[in-house]
Amino acid sequence: MQAFLKGTSVQSSKLQKDKGAPGTSTEKRVRPVPWVEKYRPKCVDEVAFQDEVVAVLKKSLEGADLPNLLFYGPPGTGKTSTILAASRELFGPQLYKQRVLELNASDERGIQVVRHKVKNFAQLTVAGTRTDGKRCPPFKIIILDEADSMTGPAQAALRRTMEKESRTTRFCLICNYVSRIIEPLTSRCSKFRFKPLANWIQEERLLEICSKENLKYSKEGIAALVKVSEGDLRKAITFLQSAARLVVDQEITEKTIVEIAGVVPSKMIDNLLQTCFKGTFEKVQIAIKDMVDEGYAATQILIQLHESIIEQDLNDKKKSAITEKMAVVDKCLADGADEYLQLLSLCSIIIEQSSTN
Ligand SMILES: Nc1ncnc2c1ncn2[C@@H]1O[C@H](COP(=O)(O)OP(=O)(O)OP(=O)(O)O)[C@@H](O)[C@H]1O
Ligand SMILES: [Mg+2]
Repeated sequence: MQAFLKGTSVQSSKLQKDKGAPGTSTEKRVRPVPWVEKYRPKCVDEVAFQDEVVAVLKKSLEGADLPNLLFYGPPGTGKTSTILAASRELFGPQLYKQRVLELNASDERGIQVVRHKVKNFAQLTVAGTRTDGKRCPPFKIIILDEADSMTGPAQAALRRTMEKESRTTRFCLICNYVSRIIEPLTSRCSKFRFKPLANWIQEERLLEICSKENLKYSKEGIAALVKVSEGDLRKAITFLQSAARLVVDQEITEKTIVEIAGVVPSKMIDNLLQTCFKGTFEKVQIAIKDMVDEGYAATQILIQLHESIIEQDLNDKKKSAITEKMAVVDKCLADGADEYLQLLSLCSIIIEQSSTN
């Protein structure tokens, strides 16, 4: 057999060897795990800030029935983690593989898969005890992660299956945009909205990770991290890990975070606005050119300018004229317009508005 393999496809066996070598060597070492995975909630109790859904899942962990579920909300708020943790607690590590079918956007989920794989899995009946003797619910769970990327016909094909197999199977649909799930499916599920995580919760989690990983940090650094991640804990943890790599054995400061996140320093934004208010057009031109040359994304500059303009001492009419222009610039940038010209045209409106009475 070995000779046969060698003889026919030298290249493929060579490829396997290449792939195999680093895999086995890393397995011997401690495998580096991204922190988002390392600190993914292991049980439902560890899921922070999503009280309603945790309450429902805990009831079902105590033996009550589970409805079909639909989780929706922005990225990094714990949707996938919650259902994975709940399934693990319900079935234990051994039964997990038999009882849970997890399909996400990386799997084929067209109508054929719904008709065959999902339907066949749903039709299996299961017992109400685990191998370790504990009671477990007499149903299986089908997790359809990123369900908003499923095609319309595939979603439609789920409708009857969901009803017919309700004795033995619960579905959990997860998505970012609930409007992309067809109405008949949403009405078959209990809907749970996952809120963006509150700042204090994020801070708590990040501090916990900092102490577990022995990181040095400044208070401002953590506050900046929370601010740039906008309620997305995954983003915050990823940034934290990058920051930790960047400043080995040093303090994680606000500056590090700003650098990693690609945020424009607020000093630069203030400077640009003040030039618009008081300086000349040439100076504004230079300021914008500098920012674009530094490599800051125009969309990021726009977002920060927007935040800053709202807080300026201008009357409502002027603010509304500026923000209206911002909307136009945003659309143009999305369509691929030139960053420098768009920012310049926005700043000229700011100059105009701030100079008129
Ligand atoms: N509510 C939460 N409690 C604790 N940790 C969380 C929470 N939300 C997110 N996290 C952290 O963020 C990581 C990503 O969470 P998860 O994969 O569950 O996000 P998601 O809501 O499924 O996002 P997406 O919509 O992008 O799939 C987790 O590994 C965990 O570390
Ligand atoms: Mg997810």
